[in-house]
Amino acid sequence: MSLQHLLSIADLEPGQLRALLDRAQELRPLALGGSTLRATLQGKTVCPLFFEASTRTRSSFMLAASRLGADVLPFDVANSSGKKGETAIDTMRTLEAMGVDCFVIRTAIDGELRALRDAAKPETRFINAGDGRSNHPTQGLLDMLTIRQHKGTDFSCLKVVIAGDILHSRVARSGLQALKILGCGEIRVCGPDSLMPDDGTLEGCKRVSRFDDAMAGADVVMMLRLQRERMEQGLVGSLESYFADYGLDTRRVALAAPDAIIMHPGPMNRGVEIADDVADGQQSVIFEQVSNGVAVRMAVLQAVFAA
Ligand code: NCD
Repeated sequence: MSLQHLLSIADLEPGQLRALLDRAQELRPLALGGSTLRATLQGKTVCPLFFEASTRTRSSFMLAASRLGADVLPFDVANSSGKKGETAIDTMRTLEAMGVDCFVIRTAIDGELRALRDAAKPETRFINAGDGRSNHPTQGLLDMLTIRQHKGTDFSCLKVVIAGDILHSRVARSGLQALKILGCGEIRVCGPDSLMPDDGTLEGCKRVSRFDDAMAGADVVMMLRLQRERMEQGLVGSLESYFADYGLDTRRVALAAPDAIIMHPGPMNRGVEIADDVADGQQSVIFEQVSNGVAVRMAVLQAVFAA
């Protein structure tokens, strides 16, 4: 399995997507410590270049790279010459000139990632760690791995709900692409009209207005963070009314299948889109998603360096 870059789930063949998930599953025991694979990327340098805040994605990429034996350059954008006006492209080329082989990029600007890739040396690898509203392919992969671990590899019988702020969510876009490739039986989307994209993202999905109806008999529930930092004007009313209409509480969880799993990419707005007792409840797999993130990112790093 090899690919030079991972910019979007949509760039993957179905076989490549499945191979990455299979490899991540194999790597799972090594991902959380005791890696025996430290010779794999010896002599290679990986740099997380994050122009936007991150806890999970940046940390797990750094752990994944070091568990494969790469040198990791923990570049801190917030304290860099970016503050003096240096452009993102000049920043990337400066680090590339020091021998970075692979950039893991997060940016708030849709399209910036491809511009960085085009400005780099042809052999430099790029992995998307979230760009604007567009893509977050490794999150899509870790979400699919988590679903597979609980529900098996046949997605055709699954009813998956994606709820909340889909408009601003690169997690939802990558998740939807992956679910469609894997042949998910039914994808229900639910959220306020003001937070539903009208750009074709929801093609093939069932739009359900009432959250209670969306939850009925669901096997997998993917909650999304209300992304207030990306809202130019108030797209939702009060947080209390948002929770009343679209918040996941135990009453709504009880409407789903008894073995339904509850997912959230993090960071959570507790009490806004998800109640504490659901986030921390028996059916929550939210911290399993985080653990799977390390394994998935090891699989992706291996694949880009195999190219
Ligand atoms: C997400 C992101 O940054 O897109 N976080 C993550 O990577 N787990 C989701 C979010 O910010 O809401």
